[in-house]
Amino acid sequence: MLSKRKEKILKQMATNNSVIVTDKLEEALNSCLASFPDDKLFLVVDDKSDRFCLPLICDTLRIEKFKKIVIPSGEENKILSSVEKIWLFLSKRGADRKSLVVNLGGGMVTDLGSFAASTFKRGVQYVNIPTTMLAQVDASVGGKTGFNFNGLKNEIGVINQPLQVIIDTRFLETLDHENFISGYAEMIKHGLIHSQDHLTELMNFDLLKPDYSLLQGMISRSVLIKNYFVAKDPTEKNIRKALNFGHTVGHAFESYSLKSANPLLHGHAVAYGMITELYLSRLRSGFPDGNMHFLSKWIMSIYGKFRITTDDYAELYELMGHDKKNEGRRINFTLIKSVGEVEINKDCTKNQIFEALDYFRELNNI
Ligand SMILES: NC(=O)c1ccc[n+]([C@@H]2O[C@H](COP(=O)([O-])OP(=O)(O)OC[C@H]3O[C@@H](n4cnc5c(N)ncnc54)[C@H](O)[C@@H]3O)[C@@H](O)[C@H]2O)c1
Ligand SMILES: [Zn+2]
Repeated sequence: MLSKRKEKILKQMATNNSVIVTDKLEEALNSCLASFPDDKLFLVVDDKSDRFCLPLICDTLRIEKFKKIVIPSGEENKILSSVEKIWLFLSKRGADRKSLVVNLGGGMVTDLGSFAASTFKRGVQYVNIPTTMLAQVDASVGGKTGFNFNGLKNEIGVINQPLQVIIDTRFLETLDHENFISGYAEMIKHGLIHSQDHLTELMNFDLLKPDYSLLQGMISRSVLIKNYFVAKDPTEKNIRKALNFGHTVGHAFESYSLKSANPLLHGHAVAYGMITELYLSRLRSGFPDGNMHFLSKWIMSIYGKFRITTDDYAELYELMGHDKKNEGRRINFTLIKSVGEVEINKDCTKNQIFEALDYFRELNNI
């Protein structure tokens, strides 16, 4: 739990009230549909959210009025041709600037559908109904939209805020464990960059037997933290970069693993990235040694091992250099001085990065 005072401050800071965490999704959805005519409602799903999630809201007053497009699921479909399919569908089915696009799915659907809506006829309003843990606590909130291009993640995109994000934890009941913990990594990140209280409640949660009613409050608090940073700096000029903790190394692990038979899910890569960046935080920001070891071991206990060798370092380093967060030739990191105390734009040398990779590698070889 966050202290009452901290939660109040977060609520005041998160000035955009566009995120609702609810178990009355139908009500929330119907009220945001009120100003849109029936023939202007469009729904984007992937095959899994179509199968597992749409039936949960089928009784919603107007869901049957929607014109629906189904995109094949999987990150490999977060590409230009899928965006084109959505644009064509909107165009052929009479969408205009008075239309509403509702994206029901994980981060793949919310990224893609919201990009297509944001660019169609110079922008159509959209609502996200995220159905994975990662999408609920991260991808659907904050207005970043886009798709992968030229082998690079999220290479093309715009920042454009949704009309509403409606979060209902009931959807998570059909999610597999790996996707569940993938999203959990972003919650851990929110705890690390903002609140020991949130981190403690995450440590106490039983991931093997999730209590969904408890989870609803935790997700709500995690989203408040994300929104706090987004509201302070919507276009990521400065403090929103706090949300990149774990991601410079995490994206490198994620891209590197794409060549293997078992590519890492985004959150797993971020979890491993956070361990490596906790080490950099110790080196560059004085993060306490004992807590670094404790947190690294806890994170490993959730995500298991990811083995790398010293032969992988050069390529991982190269991949970190390609990260769009870096200006010029320096490699910039978001680090933490202690839990809840972030330092942005901390550049690290190649030697420091290799030393951090040593720490990660040795931890995985125990
Ligand atoms: N825009 C942002 O700020 C932001 C932030 C973080 C991540 N992302 C993006 O989010 C994407 C990853 O999101 P994700 O992890 O949700 O992946 P995803 O959308 O691919 O979903 C993972 C899998 O779960 C399935 N699924 C969705 N809902 C389900 C449910 N309720 N029950 C069962 N299966 C379900 C999906 O079909 C898919 O197979 C990446 O593309 C990443 O770049 C965006
Ligand atoms: Zn992330």
